[in-house]
Amino acid sequence: MTENISVEDLNKEDAALELARLHKVLEAANAEYYQADQPTLTDADYDALKRRNTAIETRFPDLKRVNSPTDQVGAAPADGFGKVAHAVRMLSLGNAFTDEDVHEFDVSVRKFLGVPRGDVSYTAEPKIDGLSLSLRYVDGVLVQAATRGDGAVGENVTENARTIATVPQQIANAPAVLEVRGEVYMSHEDFASLNQRQSEAGGKVFSNPRNAAAGSLRQLDAKITKARPLKFFAYAWGELSEPLGETQAGAIERLRELGFATNPLTQVCASPSELISHYRLIEEQRARLGYDIDGVVYKVNDLGLQGRLGFRSTTPRWAIAHKFPAELAWTTLEAIDIQVGRTGALSPVARLAPVTVGGVVVSNATLHNEDYIAGLGNKGEDIRDGKDIRAGDWVQVYRAGDVIPKVADVDLSKRLPEAAVFEMPKTCPKCGSPAVREDGDAVRRCTGGLICPAQAVEKLKHFVSRAAFDIEGLGAKQIEAFYDDERLPVREPADIFTLRARDSAALTKLANRDGWGATSVKNVFQAIDDKRKIEFSRLIFALGVRHVGEVTAQDLARHYGTWDALAENVALARPAALAHRAADEAELLEREIAQRDGRRARVSDARKAAITDQHVPLEATKAWAFLIDADGIGATVALSLSDALANPDESGAIGRLVDQLSDIIPPEAQNSDSPVAGKTVVFTGTLEKMTRAEAKARAESLGAKVSGSVSAKTDLLVAGPGAGSKAKKAADLGIETLDEDGWLSLIGDL
Ligand code: IVH
Repeated sequence: MTENISVEDLNKEDAALELARLHKVLEAANAEYYQADQPTLTDADYDALKRRNTAIETRFPDLKRVNSPTDQVGAAPADGFGKVAHAVRMLSLGNAFTDEDVHEFDVSVRKFLGVPRGDVSYTAEPKIDGLSLSLRYVDGVLVQAATRGDGAVGENVTENARTIATVPQQIANAPAVLEVRGEVYMSHEDFASLNQRQSEAGGKVFSNPRNAAAGSLRQLDAKITKARPLKFFAYAWGELSEPLGETQAGAIERLRELGFATNPLTQVCASPSELISHYRLIEEQRARLGYDIDGVVYKVNDLGLQGRLGFRSTTPRWAIAHKFPAELAWTTLEAIDIQVGRTGALSPVARLAPVTVGGVVVSNATLHNEDYIAGLGNKGEDIRDGKDIRAGDWVQVYRAGDVIPKVADVDLSKRLPEAAVFEMPKTCPKCGSPAVREDGDAVRRCTGGLICPAQAVEKLKHFVSRAAFDIEGLGAKQIEAFYDDERLPVREPADIFTLRARDSAALTKLANRDGWGATSVKNVFQAIDDKRKIEFSRLIFALGVRHVGEVTAQDLARHYGTWDALAENVALARPAALAHRAADEAELLEREIAQRDGRRARVSDARKAAITDQHVPLEATKAWAFLIDADGIGATVALSLSDALANPDESGAIGRLVDQLSDIIPPEAQNSDSPVAGKTVVFTGTLEKMTRAEAKARAESLGAKVSGSVSAKTDLLVAGPGAGSKAKKAADLGIETLDEDGWLSLIGDL
């Protein structure tokens, strides 16, 4: 095997063989990197192979191959594509799975708008299973193409998109600025012949058309993309200098006239029942379409209404994806393993005999928690008719879209007599600390905190993940290696930022170590330094506090503005947080006792007594009130945050991290040019031109904060007919009060 011979020892013949081998490996790695989310080679291994290739070429210059990996544009995949900030965010869609969900979607739309049944019509069209692409035209010329990325920032794939036949390079009579969005996909026929060619050439064979399309579009070498038969359906748009029409259907028709391929199965439907009929029709044609679809997308047809409905954090209120039923398969459950997550949750995972489910090979499935395995649902009800799951069982797995596969059913007739009932470990399998289930929690958690290596590693992985610090070249694999590294350990986030300094003081440099090279080390240190400047919301999210997800982190960032303000307020609120927990416990106890004694529980008395007992200082009560006054922050999140910051290990680690940062970027004042940005607004009385929900969403989209009660912090009261005590209180406090029309003209909607 030439791969085991060092460069110095290679003779010419072996060197030629080895160059051929490296060429193949690197090319396959490139293809894999650009089509799969899980590349088979680490960046470091890739770099090492490339260095070896260059070293051999230097020793035997005449052996250098045409198309040598050394000459390939873009070099290491870590360099990747340029980034593109989307002018208008690229969103995803909420899901509906049942007919009932579709009716509920219609109800929620009409409720938000305050219109009667039948007054809203929709479009229904296939949901293409490919990857989304945004095409930007300026004065009719294609100037940029970008993938969705995280919705805010995507990858620049302009050169590749230019090779797609159904993407026009130039269009006549187009708006000056036109961003067309749609799906890149590969037809079944093209997929089959591509795989045929790939396998004949000894190249990578793709597992499904979606992966093939993604791998082909995300090629650093546009020549490769050109050789792959990709297609594009237009179904949406981003920035526009003028509207495309008044309705969704009209706008899509306009895109068709401009020369884009649009889906012929798009139809306007007047009611949820019509949507469902069209769904059935598409479902029936699915197998004959010649390309993969995974559901039907419904959109409110009137673009004026779409505008009023607006967006939740990541999905529009005016559209939903009605997914086709999940694909199913039977296989053997070989073992049940326990994974420990970053919040200490012990998650049982099914190891399966590999089986193909809807074109993808599945070998793991989630089993959620011990109740789920025992056949019990969230509310203690039977699931799977109460059948439990055991190692060795014959189980049915399913997978819907991108979600983690699940175990749906078990065939008891195939159960072996010796199959043992599953027992959840009562201690953490990673650190041995007790693993406990709290009242009302289905999940058992390791109590080891940061002393548990599994929790610590998972927390670090979360810290560097895409929505958190997003450090290029420092992913889950590298974090695991550094955690166990004796010479250059990373045990807490701050350690990441001291890596460069520690490495320069070390005897064996990282660059000389396995899996690393000068370039990858230089890049990763630079990527780390770049993140010393970080958005406040990312910092909050990165801490991995239980219950604090991306959206909550953004809410907290907006509420506090700076890290110091947050830390100070949460610390000040600590006694009130503890009193709140004591009140919860007192309430639980009171309920139990009342039930035993057959009387009604005196919940509020019990809570009050518990809080009085705690002697909470007034400033703590005020600080707690401020904390839970933040949008989207309830007592559960507030308590969890309070616990994290009050824990000396955690707060120590956070302090050390904050010391390493140079700049915590405060959240942008949203729409700072709007007259109500940053203002706290209260709506009261009857609104006649819109529902409360719409008024709130509209005010928030203009950067205002909407509160339910009037206080000294209120800037503006909008009072409709029938306004009562709130209007009086506002008048007493001297707060500006407007009627509905006054509000609409203030925000320019009248
Ligand atoms: S509309 C603001 N229409 O599905 C809504 N999306 O799960 C923009 N997709 O990211 C999306 N077919 O990549 C829309 N006919 C269709 C679609 C479609 C496929 C994809 C798209 C989106 C994802 C959301």
